[in-house]
Amino acid sequence: MNVKLAPSILAADFARLGRQVAEAEQAGADRIHVDVMDGHFVPNLSMGVPIVASLRQVTRLPLEVHLMISNPDMFLDEFVEAGSDSFLVHWEGNANLQRTIQRITSLGKRAGVVINPATPAAMLEDILQEVEQVLVMTVNPGFGHQQFLPMTLPKIRRVRQMIDRIDASCEVEVDGGIDADTAPLAVAAGADVLVAGTAIFGKRETVDAAMHRLRASLEQLEKQPYSV
Ligand code: DX5
Ligand code: ZN
Repeated sequence: MNVKLAPSILAADFARLGRQVAEAEQAGADRIHVDVMDGHFVPNLSMGVPIVASLRQVTRLPLEVHLMISNPDMFLDEFVEAGSDSFLVHWEGNANLQRTIQRITSLGKRAGVVINPATPAAMLEDILQEVEQVLVMTVNPGFGHQQFLPMTLPKIRRVRQMIDRIDASCEVEVDGGIDADTAPLAVAAGADVLVAGTAIFGKRETVDAAMHRLRASLEQLEKQPYSV
């Protein structure tokens, strides 16, 4: 099983961000997840283009930008210039999602579509062919350190089935409340990329130990993937 880990820097110590990202890279992180919030699309503010530009100087890992902002199209060029490798854009609140996806692709970057817990998997049907990732939110977006919503598990399974029917290379990613208890549930349901903030940067242990714990939680699944 080749499950990828995408540490979310939302839970990092921003005063030591470069060092924490380096630790994640050394511990085998597959990409870095950057949560961008504007205080409108979600009721919280986080970070923007300068953080991506700074991180680009200190890591070779792909920088995955999760845009929780009202007008994602407006900032794509700046994020690309700063060194972003992929964009995750929400289905919700975007009247021209296909155009946004097309622009990301035409900028030479990977595009992914995100759905919130209340959005059915069926909404992805017509856009699935055009994206390389689907991100199923396993909490409502806007804050780190929330509890994983088990009601999203059947949806992860449905998304995986929809993808397997058309294009097995599209990734199924999950985001929110992922830790050593919930990661096996999400992976068993069909997730192959795990975003984790608190579970990796939550200070309970080193970044290396935290990532090891997450990986170890998946070992029991190795023999029976997609068993739930
Ligand atoms: C929530 C963000 C998540 C967040 C996850 O809106 O999209 O990426 O950082 O944090 P944890 O892993 O703490 O739930
Ligand atoms: Zn995120």
